Amino acid sequence: MTITIHQIPPSDFSAIVDPLSEILFQCVQTGASVGFIQPFSKHEAHHFWTEIIYPALKTGHRHLWAAKKGDQIVGTVQLDLPWAPNQVHRADVSKLLVHPGYRRLGIAGQLMAELLETAVKLERSLLTLDTRTGDTAEPLYLGLGFEVAGSIPNFCRAPDNDVLEATTYMYKIM
Ligand SMILES: CC(C)(COP(=O)(O)OP(=O)(O)OC[C@H]1O[C@@H](n2cnc3c(N)ncnc32)[C@H](O)[C@@H]1OP(=O)(O)O)[C@@H](O)C(=O)NCCC(=O)NCCS
Repeated sequence: MTITIHQIPPSDFSAIVDPLSEILFQCVQTGASVGFIQPFSKHEAHHFWTEIIYPALKTGHRHLWAAKKGDQIVGTVQLDLPWAPNQVHRADVSKLLVHPGYRRLGIAGQLMAELLETAVKLERSLLTLDTRTGDTAEPLYLGLGFEVAGSIPNFCRAPDNDVLEATTYMYKIM
């Protein structure tokens, strides 16, 4: 299976917003802790991309990638550039999402490789991210050279259960 990774400029966003919404919806449906709780609708997924992400993409403070298998979008990731003048050396990794039907095929790894390459080009010497403690993303990030800064208990509500869960903060010195 050939996977290609594409950086998405704002002008191409509207063409892929529906598949991005579908991936987010499917990830949350299958238990991903990525900011949302059940019940979670496709409408909310679409709203997230159009109202939260698209404006940031247009400012240039956020970079967005999509992984494609042929014409089908199967994964995505973002790099968020802080606005603060004292933090122009760093960036945040967010919303690494792979469609549940295409997991363990190296797609997240390919998305992250592109993101890391861009971070180098943008002269970002520090990357940060957070992920639910114990999630499958943790070994993935460790494998990419991220280190654990620490874990914060009760950070966010579980997507499908009324309990508070811990988040692990990670960083990578580039
Ligand atoms: C986490 C996620 C992005 C991984 O995507 P993926 O395309 O399946 O990951 P890859 O195939 O590139 O995996 C790369 C490595 O990460 C680790 N990894 C990925 N999924 C794993 C799992 N379920 N269990 C243990 N390790 C895992 C492995 O080391 C893997 O290498 P290997 O397959 O050679 O053993 C995907 O499971 C996902 O979208 N989850 C829901 C959303 C989410 O939680 N995103 C992270 C937010 S911080």
